[in-house]
Amino acid sequence: MDHRARRVRTALLAPYFPETARRSPAAMLSEAEGLCLAIDLEIVVSEQVRMNAPRPATLIGAGKIDEIATAAEELELELLVVDAALSPTQQRNLERATKLKVIDRTGLILEIFGERARTREGRLQVELAHLTYQRSRLVRSWTHLERQRGGAGFMGGPGESQIEIDRRLIDDRIVQLEKALEKVRRTRELHRKPRRDVPYPIVALVGYTNAGKSTLFNRLSGADVFAKDLLFATLDPTMRAVELADGRPVIMSDTVGFVADLPTQLVAAFRATLEEVMEADIILHVRDASDPEMAAQADDVYAILSDMGIETEDNPHLVEVFNKADLLPPPFLEIRRQEAAGLPYPGVLISALTGEGLDRLAAEVADRLARDRVELCAIVDPGDGASIAWLHRNGEVLERTDLEDGVHMKVRLSQADAGRWEKRLV
Ligand code: GTP
Repeated sequence: MDHRARRVRTALLAPYFPETARRSPAAMLSEAEGLCLAIDLEIVVSEQVRMNAPRPATLIGAGKIDEIATAAEELELELLVVDAALSPTQQRNLERATKLKVIDRTGLILEIFGERARTREGRLQVELAHLTYQRSRLVRSWTHLERQRGGAGFMGGPGESQIEIDRRLIDDRIVQLEKALEKVRRTRELHRKPRRDVPYPIVALVGYTNAGKSTLFNRLSGADVFAKDLLFATLDPTMRAVELADGRPVIMSDTVGFVADLPTQLVAAFRATLEEVMEADIILHVRDASDPEMAAQADDVYAILSDMGIETEDNPHLVEVFNKADLLPPPFLEIRRQEAAGLPYPGVLISALTGEGLDRLAAEVADRLARDRVELCAIVDPGDGASIAWLHRNGEVLERTDLEDGVHMKVRLSQADAGRWEKRLV
């Protein structure tokens, strides 16, 4: 998969401000480690740095910087990852003081997006985000990681790290990228049209990174989308047709995982990967119920969904999925069960790994789809077997009368399907 000659020896520092932290230090450090591992860095040093106030020049205090500088020599480190947002000056000062390449959280996430972007649009957007981010930092940190890579990565092959690129070149490239993106968007718009009119309801999976979306997607669809213990295994949505327990087909769409404090430069790139979510009939919010930070993670997901105009408080189209139930010892299992049951629309406890609870989940989806049904009278040409079959498959046919002008069918359909039907008629 990746042909890098060797892994980059890395020190990870995760600054922690007890006054403002929303999450536990251990959880933050372990997430930062996960992010480093996602691009295959070798973590040699990993530390939480408890701080009362940031230092303007370097963010981190002088004592800790000295420690890292010494460790850098002794342990032959190459890279320092700071799990926070660094200003360009802070980044430069840290590089000078430690003689290491330095990247911050935004840089790290950009690297991951760069490696995971699969579609042309995804790649363009990530490059654009990267350039916009780098523009403020100019030449010095244009390529932080001088790693030997097989050319698959986003930041260019060997040798390119030497190239000095000035602001004007970056600007030219940004203009080029924006044009390319515009074109890709236009063609995609053309391709998406038929998809929006797909005859089946769309079920989109969202969730915090590592919650188990890909695993659940594979379970339900039998598809071989690669699921593994890497963050962001999925950057671009993937879609598959799946049959629910009642035989109703739906289209499942997997999306990239959310992370806390998504850098602003990345929000647009990230959102573009979530467009399917906005068109979905049902959104499955997959949570890692075995993670003590589940509630904070859910809040992060909700924040972005709300930003996108999706109701998160009381939405019959949003199904809460409490995953990884197999990892919960009985007392915790009971706690999560009660939490799930206590939601305005009760959540479903499952294990994507063992398959436990998936039947209940499928039933819940079918139920939610049925919830907003409307009745309509469709008049179909008797020869139009496809339409008659579609109505039977997607709706409840209440009455059928064969008249001169066609087959009159009284059908109960979901609002989304009713819309689809109307479009078919037009
Ligand atoms: P991103 O692509 O990063 O957003 O992750 P994701 O939400 O798609 O998670 P993924 O399906 O890749 O699962 C992450 C890890 O959790 C993998 O190691 C899975 O094997 C594991 N996992 C997923 N579901 C379950 C489950 O029900 N039980 C257990 N024990 N592990 C699970």
